[in-house]
Amino acid sequence: MNSYFVIGNPIDHSLSPLLHNYWFKKYKIQSEYKKKKLEENDLKDFTNDIRSNHSIKGANVTVPFKKKIIPFLDELSKVSEITGSVNTIIKQNGKLLGDNTDATAFEDTLNDMKYSIHEYGRPLTSLIIGAGGVTSSIIFAIEKLNNAEGTYYIMNRTKKNADDLALKNLPNVNLKPKVLDWGDIPKNLDIIINTTSVGLIKDEELNLDFSTYKGSKNTLFYDLIYNPKETNFLIDARKRGNKVMNGKMMFILQAKKAFLEWTKVDVDIDDEVLKLLDND
Ligand SMILES: NC(=O)c1ccc[n+]([C@@H]2O[C@H](COP(=O)([O-])OP(=O)(O)OC[C@H]3O[C@@H](n4cnc5c(N)ncnc54)[C@H](OP(=O)(O)O)[C@@H]3O)[C@@H](O)[C@H]2O)c1
Repeated sequence: MNSYFVIGNPIDHSLSPLLHNYWFKKYKIQSEYKKKKLEENDLKDFTNDIRSNHSIKGANVTVPFKKKIIPFLDELSKVSEITGSVNTIIKQNGKLLGDNTDATAFEDTLNDMKYSIHEYGRPLTSLIIGAGGVTSSIIFAIEKLNNAEGTYYIMNRTKKNADDLALKNLPNVNLKPKVLDWGDIPKNLDIIINTTSVGLIKDEELNLDFSTYKGSKNTLFYDLIYNPKETNFLIDARKRGNKVMNGKMMFILQAKKAFLEWTKVDVDIDDEVLKLLDND
């Protein structure tokens, strides 16, 4: 039996095992996928275990190790190199390759919704809220969807973290986001993305005023959170008449890409998978 893991800390909340084990069963692949809670000083031993243990075929990496895992890997995909973030480890000839399927999954969801420079004929103006572990993946995707043209913004509760991300930590992103003060909401945005963890607990509020977007039916409010299904950020947007999207499809697509890299099976996204992740 082959094994795959998701490593993180905390890890109890992860729905990745549910998804990957569903696909292993559906496609009759003799494998299991498990959660593993690690401390930072376990990362070296864990990566050595993957290298030496024939039955361990790969892993996902989640908070807070997406960057910290990098020194223990042998190679990085281009996306991981640019974003400084690894969510998928692939074993190739005994070597460990780090990849970032979060960025491509997010990009694919926006392409599917036709939010790209190709559809609009102009760069889209976006606001990214947050500057945590996943935000570099969102910056990468927004830059790509705009062919590195136009303007986009970032704001974060702790402004220094947004400054560091925009100006220092992503040297290979050509088009940098402009850093705004918290609450300084620009007009005429096409996409507003919540990449913070605010909303994971029901009733939490970002306390940002988007009232000028009342009736803006083409402005997309995108929350990376998918559990709860609808955060206050999305409830308010829906009531204002904006377009809304939660993080469920991004989560499924990042898993689908990891699964393909590990098993070469390109899974279908069926109704059962969509229902599997609905907890509320
Ligand atoms: N759909 C998907 O596939 C997917 C993938 C990855 C992540 N996510 C979701 O994305 C979210 C962020 O993940 P992450 O790994 O980037 O987390 P993280 O590294 O812990 O970053 C948390 C971010 O939230 C901000 N924040 C926390 N509490 C806040 C508050 N009370 N008010 C304002 N801002 C606050 C932090 O700001 P400070 O810098 O000021 O602390 C930081 O920018 C999580 O909800 C996660 O579930 C979804």
